[in-house]
Amino acid sequence: MQQYWSGSAINKNKGMVEHLQHCGVIKSTKVAEVMETIDRGLFVPKGTPPYVDSPMAIGYNVTISAPHMHATCLQLLEEKLQPGMRALDVGSGTGYLTACFALMVGPQGHTIGVDHIPELVSSSIENIEKSAAAPLLKDGSFSVHVGDGREGWPECAPYDAIHVGAAAPEIPEPLINQLKPGGRMVIPVGNILQDLKVVDKNSDGSISVYTETLVRYVPLTSKEAQLQG
Ligand SMILES: C[S@@+](CC[C@H](N)C(=O)[O-])C[C@H]1O[C@@H](n2cnc3c(N)ncnc32)[C@H](O)[C@@H]1O
Repeated sequence: MQQYWSGSAINKNKGMVEHLQHCGVIKSTKVAEVMETIDRGLFVPKGTPPYVDSPMAIGYNVTISAPHMHATCLQLLEEKLQPGMRALDVGSGTGYLTACFALMVGPQGHTIGVDHIPELVSSSIENIEKSAAAPLLKDGSFSVHVGDGREGWPECAPYDAIHVGAAAPEIPEPLINQLKPGGRMVIPVGNILQDLKVVDKNSDGSISVYTETLVRYVPLTSKEAQLQG
């Protein structure tokens, strides 16, 4: 899959962001600011090089996505992550992208992360507590939960932005239902190679879908299937 640089020559968060801007993956000042403010180095397991443009293992048979994928998803969702909006991150993993969402929608907004591995949810909360998004966890505008993300998180729906960080065989109906009219979902759909789909809910409730790019994500599946590998 796409890789914008290889090896660990880039060894600082700021350098990573500048490189993503230079390559044209980060196009907006807002996305650059957020990725500079949330240090990816706080979210990868100890001993893992944080700024290499590649997915990295985080245990439980899953990965933290590559920096260029995080940047791509932030760009695609930027308009729906304005201050005061609602965001749902399904398969929140390390909490890195969820923390970026929380910073973008701010304390007047609401950000929910959902992952089905309780240990990942606990460690993601520890990561977030060390990051610039910590005050949002404290004030309750940002929370991360254990759950089956295929069901979304109906308690806080509808959402302006939904991101799914694992590949679904098809777009789960509950996630479409939890998208606000005018809202946008970004979700990888398929099996081994997947389409990164951008799903827009129009004001009349109808859905428009296009494919942004080809990607390779771990599956959105049951906890048991994931742990069995
Ligand atoms: C690529 S990984 C992590 C993505 C995250 N954006 C990151 O970069 O840290 C995908 C995540 O989806 C989670 N996942 C897979 N199926 C799930 C499901 N049905 N419900 C909730 N989480 C799920 C995995 O546990 C994993 O943490």
